[in-house]
Amino acid sequence: MIIALLGGPGSGKGTQAKKLIDKLGIPQISTGDIFRAALKEATPKGLKAKTYMDKGELVPDDVVIGVVEERLAKPDLEKGYMLDGFPRTLPQAQALGEILKKQSKVIDHAILVDVPDEELVARLSGRRTCKNSACGAMFHVMFNAPKKEGVCDVCGTDLYQRDDDKEEVIRERLGVYNKQTAPLIDYYESQGLLRRVKGVGPIDQIFASIEKVLS
Ligand code: AP5
Ligand code: MG
Ligand code: ZN
Repeated sequence: MIIALLGGPGSGKGTQAKKLIDKLGIPQISTGDIFRAALKEATPKGLKAKTYMDKGELVPDDVVIGVVEERLAKPDLEKGYMLDGFPRTLPQAQALGEILKKQSKVIDHAILVDVPDEELVARLSGRRTCKNSACGAMFHVMFNAPKKEGVCDVCGTDLYQRDDDKEEVIRERLGVYNKQTAPLIDYYESQGLLRRVKGVGPIDQIFASIEKVLS
């Protein structure tokens, strides 16, 4: 099964993807996570991506498409995968369509995790992320607090605040989402692939709505 998770910054794509990994036994492919991992290793691609990420802008399409193409050629995707944060522009969606066509595959569901803008700002400004990139669990200081402050419940590593989770950058990311990514909602709707899920409320309740879409 191939799933694309759509939704604004902070809508809960990553949170829900982590839960879906256990449920479906398929990997999560997050382009944001791939760039943050590249940055940690200080690769040229990671350093280039950072200049855009720090401003809340999108990394150029050719760079992102190249990264995804490379990832989709790996052998662990037999049972399918979840795309988190990709595609994010129409050219990315078209490129994905071409890659899948060559592999005789299709997207099964484009799931929109729908959350109003005001809520997104509150979520991102309180988000804390696990420093261990193999884990990458997300918490929130108020909405989803870890058992021990500053420490990951899952793996015990310290939590950190992402560089782009600052109010001015959050506002920029929201603007970019509404302008460049929101058009994908119509794009997938016209292909009959869009599944809208209300992304406000308890995390488990949203997960249940996603499970319903998939069943
Ligand atoms: P990326 O890492 O993809 O960030 P994003 O899309 O802005 O999304 P987030 O990861 O911030 O949010 P999320 O939806 O995963 O929410 P989460 O589950 O963490 O991209 C970062 C940057 O990389 C981009 O700005 C761009 O520069 C670049 N990039 C990446 N992909 C690209 C692409 N394809 N093209 C070009 N550039 C690209 O949840 C957020 C918070 O809310 C957490 O604290 C969580 O605990 C909390 N929370 C979750 N669910 C709930 C709930 N139901 N109620 C209350 N709180 C909740
Ligand atoms: Mg995420
Ligand atoms: Zn962890």
